[in-house]
Order: sequence, then structure tokens, then C-alpha cells
Amino acid sequence: MKAATISDYNAAIEITEIDKPVLKADSVLIKVHAASLNPIDNILRSGAMKEAMPLSFPHVMGFDVAGEVVEIGKDVANVKVGDAVFARPNQEDAGAIAELAHVKESELALKPANLSYAQAACVPLAGLTAWQALLTKGHLKKGDKVLIHAGSGGVGTFAIQIAKHVGAYVATTVSTKNIEVVKTLGADKVIDYTAQQFEDEISDYDLVFDMIGGDTLDRSFKVLKKGGTMISIKGQDSAGLAKKHGVRFETLWMEPDGAMLAELGTLLSKGIVKTVTDSTFSMDEVDAAYAQLAKGHAVGKIVVEVGE
Ligand SMILES: NC(=O)c1ccc[n+]([C@@H]2O[C@H](COP(=O)([O-])OP(=O)(O)OC[C@H]3O[C@@H](n4cnc5c(N)ncnc54)[C@H](OP(=O)(O)O)[C@@H]3O)[C@@H](O)[C@H]2O)c1
Repeated sequence: MKAATISDYNAAIEITEIDKPVLKADSVLIKVHAASLNPIDNILRSGAMKEAMPLSFPHVMGFDVAGEVVEIGKDVANVKVGDAVFARPNQEDAGAIAELAHVKESELALKPANLSYAQAACVPLAGLTAWQALLTKGHLKKGDKVLIHAGSGGVGTFAIQIAKHVGAYVATTVSTKNIEVVKTLGADKVIDYTAQQFEDEISDYDLVFDMIGGDTLDRSFKVLKKGGTMISIKGQDSAGLAKKHGVRFETLWMEPDGAMLAELGTLLSKGIVKTVTDSTFSMDEVDAAYAQLAKGHAVGKIVVEVGE
């Protein structure tokens, strides 16, 4: 099958012919229609995480997949050939930008019928990250005030909408050009990080969802009320600052979860949560797609359409 692969860390992405995945009993093979890109793809490719998450080569790029089930393993119970599905497979199965993807039944969900494959591919990794940060770890509830950084990004666009659905008051940071986009998604207070210091604008918040790290994470502690919660997905340890400010601090590494993805799928099928697409590329343009991601200024998700 055709796949977008790298032969080593930092190698160029090539469209190569590789063997189709070997189907396991608890998994399905998906004919991929669309994939979306995430910063982790470039991080893994660079070798920066080769100790924690080593790659085996050839490595197929991409985690997020949407497509049609074409084969099922013998233990698969609730999915059939022909079903339209979407998923964020675990790292062992990663390889979304390929004609076929191998996904555990427990890690996929039925694609909402109102979403195209390209829209569905935007959802799994970023959507589950937002869900797990705000709800699973952040315990966000109606009436809470939450600051969501980078509201215009892949994770941020989902986070704003999930937080609004819960009934929270949402502040978010964006650059000037993205103010309108996040207002459309429901943000109550929009802070232009190029012109304002967010810690001068808001205080006494219940929750901060950080996806920037560094100085932004450090300054974010100032907007929390005592007993508030900081969730960061940047892997930076801020336990000391958390103690100083009297808040709870947790880092998150998102986990694939088909049941949770189905819950998010229900919100998508009702139009409560919408996908935001930055740009769409063909499989032959995958290099350009990853170059766009590397700029770090995507508005929503970058999609690669696979197949005809
Ligand atoms: N731990 C986990 O499980 C996990 C899961 C998913 C993502 N992540 C990490 O979370 C980060 C975000 O992921 P993503 O998919 O949302 O990335 P992304 O789509 O590439 O995010 C790009 C967005 O970030 C905004 N941005 C950049 N600098 C900013 C700043 N200083 N303040 C506010 N907004 C800023 C950009 O807006 P402008 O163009 O306006 O600057 C752009 O819209 C990445 O570092 C990723 O690796 C971690």
C-alpha cells in the first residue's frame, strides 16, 4: 500500500510502497479517506522523544484517521465492514497517512454522519485532548471560569466549544488575526496575546488549560484563584509554582479512547461542536502540509486527503 513514511529520524517524508498492516483479532483495517496532522508528528520525527516514544522504521506519519472499515479481526463485536469511522490509534498502530490504517476497536468510533471524512479526521487527537484536559482532569463544570490558551489552534478550537457546552465562562488567548474566529466558537473574553498581558486582564479563575508552556505557563498561575487547577499538556513540571500559588497542577498525556470519542461525536452530530479546518492537502503534498504545521500558526486543523 502507499504511505507517507520516514526512513529515519529527521528524514524527508516520502510516499512509498509498504506492506499492509497485519490485522490483529481486536482490531480493524480502515481504508483511509482523510488524516489530520498534530505537532506530535513533527516532534516524533525530529527524534526529540526517541527515548520515551521510539519509532520503528519505516514510520508512517500521522495519528488522526477517518475512513471506512474494510476488514475486521475475529474478536471485533460492534463494528462491521463498510462502517464509516474515525480514530486516534495508539502509538504502535500510528500511521494515518496511508491507504490502510490498523486501529483497535476500542480506539475508534462511528463517524458522525453530518461530517465529511476530512472534517472527522480533524477530531480525534485534538478533541480527546481538550476533553481529557477540561473534563477528565480539570473537572470543569457549569459556572466555572476557564482560561484556554491558544484558542485558535487544533486543541484550542475544540476546548472552547467543549467548555461552552459545559456552561463555563471562557477566556482565551489568540493573536489579533484570530479574534473573530474564537468569538464565533463562543469565547466570552478574548485576549490578544500580541497586545495584552492576560494576567492583567483576568483573575480568580477556576481552571487554566495551558498548551504553550514556558513563560506563558508560569504567568498563568497568577490568574487562578486559591484551590484552582492548572492543566498543562506541555510536559513542563510546575509543581513548585503550584504549591506557591495554592493550586492543583496536573500534566496530561492524552489517551486514545473510542467511547469518549463517541461522546464527542454526539456533540458533533448535533452541531454543538464544529470542526475548524486550517487547510487541506493531498497525499502528494504531505511535505507542504507538515511545513504549514511547523509554522505553529494553524487556525484549527490541517488535513491530508488520502486516496481518490
Ligand atoms: N500532551 C498531550 O497529550 C498533547 C496533545 C495535543 C497537543 N499537545 C501540544 O499542545 C500544543 C498545541 O497543540 P495544537 O494541536 O493545538 O497545536 P497547533 O494547532 O499547531 O496550535 C497553533 C495555534 O497556537 C496559537 N499560538 C501560538 N503561540 C501562542 C501564544 N503564545 N499564545 C496563544 N496562542 C498561541 C497559534 O495562534 P497564532 O497564529 O495567533 O499565534 C495557532 O492558532 C502543541 O505543543 C502540542 O504538541 C499535547
